[in-house]
Amino acid sequence: MIERRDKMIRVLGIETSCDETAASVVALREGSEPEILSNVVLSQIEEHAAFGGVVPEIAARAHVEALDGIVEAALADSGTELAEVDAVAATAGPGLVGGLIVGLMTAKAVASAAGKPLLAINHLEGHALTARLTDGLDFPYLLLLVSGGHTQIVLVRGVGDYQRWATTIDDALGEAFDKTAKMLGLPYPGGPNVEKAAKDGDPRRFGFPRPMKGSAQPDFSFAGLKTAVRQAATAAAPLSDKDVADICASFQAAVSDALADRVGRCLARFRAEYRDVAAPALVVAGGVAANREIRAALEAQCAKSGFRFIAPPHELCTDNAAMIAWAGIERIRAGLAGKDGPGKDEAFSFVPRSRWPLDEVSAPVVGSGRRGAKA
Ligand code: KG4
Ligand code: ZN
Repeated sequence: MIERRDKMIRVLGIETSCDETAASVVALREGSEPEILSNVVLSQIEEHAAFGGVVPEIAARAHVEALDGIVEAALADSGTELAEVDAVAATAGPGLVGGLIVGLMTAKAVASAAGKPLLAINHLEGHALTARLTDGLDFPYLLLLVSGGHTQIVLVRGVGDYQRWATTIDDALGEAFDKTAKMLGLPYPGGPNVEKAAKDGDPRRFGFPRPMKGSAQPDFSFAGLKTAVRQAATAAAPLSDKDVADICASFQAAVSDALADRVGRCLARFRAEYRDVAAPALVVAGGVAANREIRAALEAQCAKSGFRFIAPPHELCTDNAAMIAWAGIERIRAGLAGKDGPGKDEAFSFVPRSRWPLDEVSAPVVGSGRRGAKA
């Protein structure tokens, strides 16, 4: 069993599933609010910018080079000795397998050297439970995860108890932002640059499709919208700054509208299935949740449907290790970890999984293609 000194649990978290190398120490004293003692994130944006997207081999190499120092920094910032942590938690999937191997192997080495239990954490569970770290939210609630690799709405019923209600049938939303940016000659990462360009644009100039809007199937789709953007850009070429701004504004308007519609359906379903939840909540996570217009559209939808809208601070919405450490704490408290003691924990033999749906029951909507991987 994992020891609980003074009923305080401290977990070292490690995250390397994409292009952030991150480590963090999170503490929970029973009866108190959880505390993020440190949260160190090194972004690889510059390494990948020249390629217009994340290059897996470059990412894995950068994780190898940085991770030791990041773990040391997270321990030092938190004022915690390795000997004082109760467990080490690392992202074991889904994500780019090279990075996952680096993070999980490092965690295995650190945990076995220090005689600590190891927890292999699902990255999506980290996102799903963050609102309990930041806002003390009670189960059940709905999560909208919108990032470069994921676009899904998940019912969060408890630790390890998730049901996917909607997913993308093609591209992830962040991917659609990044591809739109690329088509328009805007720099990587695309999302923030599309948002910036859209500020001066006319959202009504291009009547882009609102994919799946009104459909009884709850899922998302962004591939058709991407094609519509390409056609508009080709027709208007050579593009002036005004054309780019108008396309970005029209794209963002279409996305916000489609998202609000899709989310609205799931809010209605939640209301119908959980009548006794007095203050239902929608939580957003993922890089795209930083987009102000999307946030406003979601907030309006929540207000209309009588839901609380919970957006954790930006640095905890995007990839980080505090959410991984926290998921470790949640698992320890739920009795889902460390049953066999250090060294015998099944996490030590866990093999990283590039695909690892939160909800193992729901079949993938898109076969075995690359895009289906994280979704
Ligand atoms: O969660 P995240 O940092 O990393 C993962 O994909 O896991 O999300 C990154 C994605 C990228 O596709 C990026 O373009 C998008 O989030 N993004 C945005 C904004 N900021 C980041 N998309 C739209 N508007 C933004 N302001
Ligand atoms: Zn993520």
